[in-house]
Amino acid sequence: MTVLIVGGSGFLGAELIRQAAGAGYRTAATYATRPGRTHEEVAWHALDLRSPAGVEAVVSRVAPRVVINASSGGADWAATAEGPVRLAMATAGSGCRLIHVSSDAVFSGADVRYDESRRPDPITPYGAAKAAAETGVLLVRPDAVVARTSLIIGDGRSVHERAVRELAAGSRSGALFTDDIRCPVHVTDLASALLELARGDMCGVHHLGGSDALSRYELGTLIARREGIDASRLPAGLRTESAFPGPLDVRLDSRATQDKLRTVLRGGRQFLAPEV
Ligand SMILES: NC(=O)c1ccc[n+]([C@@H]2O[C@H](COP(=O)([O-])OP(=O)(O)OC[C@H]3O[C@@H](n4cnc5c(N)ncnc54)[C@H](OP(=O)(O)O)[C@@H]3O)[C@@H](O)[C@H]2O)c1
Repeated sequence: MTVLIVGGSGFLGAELIRQAAGAGYRTAATYATRPGRTHEEVAWHALDLRSPAGVEAVVSRVAPRVVINASSGGADWAATAEGPVRLAMATAGSGCRLIHVSSDAVFSGADVRYDESRRPDPITPYGAAKAAAETGVLLVRPDAVVARTSLIIGDGRSVHERAVRELAAGSRSGALFTDDIRCPVHVTDLASALLELARGDMCGVHHLGGSDALSRYELGTLIARREGIDASRLPAGLRTESAFPGPLDVRLDSRATQDKLRTVLRGGRQFLAPEV
């Protein structure tokens, strides 16, 4: 079976490659600027999702049985909203599984807890682009999976962990908000759940957040403690008093999807607990 990881050079993409290749799948992956550095055997393809011809060319060259779109084009509408729909169109009729990774940014936070039945109500350009992609992908490919996730944490390599180290060292300005709450997930759990969904036959929207709701500050202190950093060095603040607009409290309720999966989506308190 050939698995194509779109956005394979990204943080989640690298872990998807590691697990897909480790499971013995032929693995192809795309990058926008430069191939990722992986130990696994991967066929790399340059791909900008903004290019319809490029999307069709890569899909027909790789002829995948599974496509997992782990790309992120930020708030760029052509990349984040339109690109995934192009990918859905290019794979339509091929019989391949399509797993589209989305975000809790599709929600405003007005209602705090969001299960899979809730309709997106984005309040940022990025959230709007992700919400539009979800709608377009499922219109073109009703058999696709839209997998919404939250802050992705790794073993020190995520942007969120890097930010905590830099804030503690004083090499970065800013603060960790105590009123900005999410359900962080570990990248290995997330990649495993995405590959499990790819092997199965579920379709539609699924939530893949971790089981604990944590503020950015709480998350930062857990990361600091694991890394032996003095957590009292972390600056705390309120997002409501900052210049950063966006949702405050968005808790992905992933219980319905978790009940159907063997992969356990651990909470941050568990995966960031100090090793004993
Ligand atoms: N990170 C989080 O905390 C978080 C939270 C919620 C949801 N998500 C979602 O999870 C997914 C993975 O996120 P991530 O943090 O792993 O992303 P990432 O590390 O920023 O990687 C983004 C990937 O997308 C590729 N890319 C960028 N622009 C592209 C374009 N125009 N066409 C095709 N590919 C393009 C990048 O290629 P180059 O490296 O070559 O530029 C890279 O491979 C995304 O869908 C994101 O929205 C992430």
